[in-house]
Amino acid sequence: MSQQRQILVTSALPYANGAIHLGHMVEHIQTDVWVRFQKMRGHECYYVCADDTHGTPIMLAAEKQGVTPEALIERVQAEHLADFTGFHIGYDNYYSTNSPENREYARSIYNTLKANGKIVSRTIEQLFDPEKQMFLPDRFVKGECPKCSAKDQYGDNCEVCGATYSPTELKNPYSAVSGATPVLKTSEHFFFRLGDCADYLKGWTAGSSVRGDGETQPHLQAESLNKMNEWIEGGLNDWDISRDAPYFGFEIPDAPGKYFYVWLDAPVGYMASFKNLADRIGLNFDDWFKPDSKAELYHFIGKDILYFHALFWPAMLHFAGFRAPTGVFAHGFLTVDGQKMSKSRGTFITAKSYLDCGLNPEWMRYYIAAKLNARIEDIDLSLDDFVARVNSDLVGKFVNIASRSAGFIAKRFGGQLAEAVADGEILARLQNEAAAIAAAYEAREYAKALRDVMGLADLVNAYVDANKPWELAKQQGQDARLQEVCTVLINAFRLLTIYLKPVLPKLAEGVEAFLNVAPLTWRDADSLLLGHTIAPYQHLMQRIDPALIEKLIEANKQSMEPQAAPAAAGNFEPLADTITIDDFAKLDLRIGKVLDCQFIEGSDKLLNFTVDLGFETRTIFSGIRKAYPEPEKLIGRKVVVVANLAPRKMRFGTSSGMIVCASGADDGSGLFLLDADQGAAPGMRIG
Ligand code: 2FM
Ligand code: ZN
Repeated sequence: MSQQRQILVTSALPYANGAIHLGHMVEHIQTDVWVRFQKMRGHECYYVCADDTHGTPIMLAAEKQGVTPEALIERVQAEHLADFTGFHIGYDNYYSTNSPENREYARSIYNTLKANGKIVSRTIEQLFDPEKQMFLPDRFVKGECPKCSAKDQYGDNCEVCGATYSPTELKNPYSAVSGATPVLKTSEHFFFRLGDCADYLKGWTAGSSVRGDGETQPHLQAESLNKMNEWIEGGLNDWDISRDAPYFGFEIPDAPGKYFYVWLDAPVGYMASFKNLADRIGLNFDDWFKPDSKAELYHFIGKDILYFHALFWPAMLHFAGFRAPTGVFAHGFLTVDGQKMSKSRGTFITAKSYLDCGLNPEWMRYYIAAKLNARIEDIDLSLDDFVARVNSDLVGKFVNIASRSAGFIAKRFGGQLAEAVADGEILARLQNEAAAIAAAYEAREYAKALRDVMGLADLVNAYVDANKPWELAKQQGQDARLQEVCTVLINAFRLLTIYLKPVLPKLAEGVEAFLNVAPLTWRDADSLLLGHTIAPYQHLMQRIDPALIEKLIEANKQSMEPQAAPAAAGNFEPLADTITIDDFAKLDLRIGKVLDCQFIEGSDKLLNFTVDLGFETRTIFSGIRKAYPEPEKLIGRKVVVVANLAPRKMRFGTSSGMIVCASGADDGSGLFLLDADQGAAPGMRIG
């Protein structure tokens, strides 16, 4: 074993206003496999993450939901952690950027950068929402594209013609927050002088560090380095790191009403999460972050946030007196069946829906790992291939080795493995691969590691077919041979489990219980299990039933219309799963009164409702135009509203709630609004 290394690893911090989906999962699985591998090798390795909690979108989302940002981020953090834990992502700490440690480090980094002449202030002009009294981020200004005049385009680029521009160029701009026409207003902003760091960044991006074991680690992948060179040569602009109140974040020292831009304190969140862990378990934080630290620091990220991690972040760390990262490892995006994940096709798959459908998280861990390499390539989840590959590799090739041999050991030999095996070559062959497989994991070439492991599983299955334990079991005088063959197989299974353990930690736990051994480490591949008593075998993994995939797609399909179900005579939609009273209590149904109802230009399905909920007035889009072709007739009537449904951004604006309908035929013609008896007033809760 080479020298023990100190390794700190992070995944990008997910925003605290959206659900975890399989795209996030690719990154956290990639990171978790690497961390588990390093821990199995005996290194001192910590994996930290956190929710990224600040910024305008989170502030506005909380406001829409009628909760404080603190309450929103607390709820979302619990949801995120439950999803990640469900996929066996083994953080040593999952924290929040809205933490005292993060405030402290963000401020001290800023103060040191300022003292080092890296911060300047300038007055800039920005669009301001006079109604909401706030400056508008580009994504919150909409209007007509200056190039092609397409309506309702965002302030930074046009989704119709692809033009990019600044929000002040939009024709007839409006605030996506209030609808008001924005005005130009000046404000003082603080900038990080990135251009002043260009020499340092040229060196860091092209450079490498020496790992704890003496190996050389380039800071960036070759593709990232090329990109950074382009950016550095194109000239590095100063980076605007401040935002005006109202903003959910940390106030800048000595600058009342000015806040750190979310991207300033987000990566600092890596340090804050580690500091929180260090204090809890008694590590010396400074040893890990001082400029000459021997510890290694790695960030796993998506290719879209390279600029922040490979330029801003190393420069911030370095010029604030900390060490820079040892490596930034970027990965590509996830496509599903060859296409971008799509909500309408049901391929925008949330982690929660995957788990709720009863799919085993280790199936996905294996499939994703089997596609990952060290390059920045997009990876595709082909759902048919997912089923075929998991069933063939994990169940057909791997788990079957145990299920075909364990029964004989239990029934015929009281669980006892043979003291020695004559044909040890196959086991030696498996043991000899340990170094190559380790090298592949170390280099994040998981696809190669798993190809090697499955190649070894093929050899073992050929050994089963050549030695036919089921026939030996029927023959007189073959007991010793049967025990020996099955001992070879159990040992082969144990070695393969060691090699798969970074990817399949839960299954490995089951194998450890079955083999009656301590948690397996990489070094255990040097030895064999002989003359040892194992526990009775219990099935370790099921095959994927393709019906579960159908269920998964359905669970993720979101159309703009309420889902219509065929209700022809006797043809009722099957009853949904039973829920508890607590589940029902989560749904906040209210009586609403329709104040206005109109067609929406450009939509043949939606009606635009203005609904009085007693305590507030909401805009709700409902896909019932076919069933109610005269919207003005709906004005004044009472409706049932799902009042706590998360607001949904649509092409035409944001819909804040849902109007409940009974649904009939598929084409949307059979939709029926519900009514309420006299006395039911807007705002009353239904339940
Ligand atoms: O792109 C994102 O989802 C960001 N929330 C990632 C932040 S990573 C780190 F810098 F905090
Ligand atoms: Zn355009």
